[in-house]
Amino acid sequence: MSQVTEYSEKLMDHFMNPRNVGEMENPSGVGTVGNAKCGDIMRMYLDIDENRVVKEAKFKTFGCGAAVATSSMATELVKGKTVQEALEVTNKAVMEALDGLPPVKIHCSLLAEEAIHAALWDYAKKNDIVIEGLKEPVNDIDETEEFYKMQGE
Ligand code: FES
Repeated sequence: MSQVTEYSEKLMDHFMNPRNVGEMENPSGVGTVGNAKCGDIMRMYLDIDENRVVKEAKFKTFGCGAAVATSSMATELVKGKTVQEALEVTNKAVMEALDGLPPVKIHCSLLAEEAIHAALWDYAKKNDIVIEGLKEPVNDIDETEEFYKMQGE
């Protein structure tokens, strides 16, 4: 690479060839979140087996390239994890897996994290279980404290 760009090669790869794009029939859990500031929306579907392991994850987004790439990586990371472990797939973990993200795009990775949480929440509610540490999801990530912390506001 002759030029230093804002986006890592890994991020570009997940943007150009996103993994796990699509919908799922009868998902174990599904969640949709949006960001009112940029108007982007993310929907996450999870297929979870009887051992509470994520077998399949799919996503659809009306979002920017960073949202596509972070969701793609997030779906890859949650597969094979228990629902409890899937909670640890934070936006920081996703960013690390993508070799970083430009600061102005950090909120995009929060969309993926919140969408996973919303899908896990839906799964927990349907199955009447508690996933420790999982908070009720917000519909608009703009409302989260984390978002403001990351924006330095
Ligand atoms: Fe909205 Fe990236 S600009 S998710």
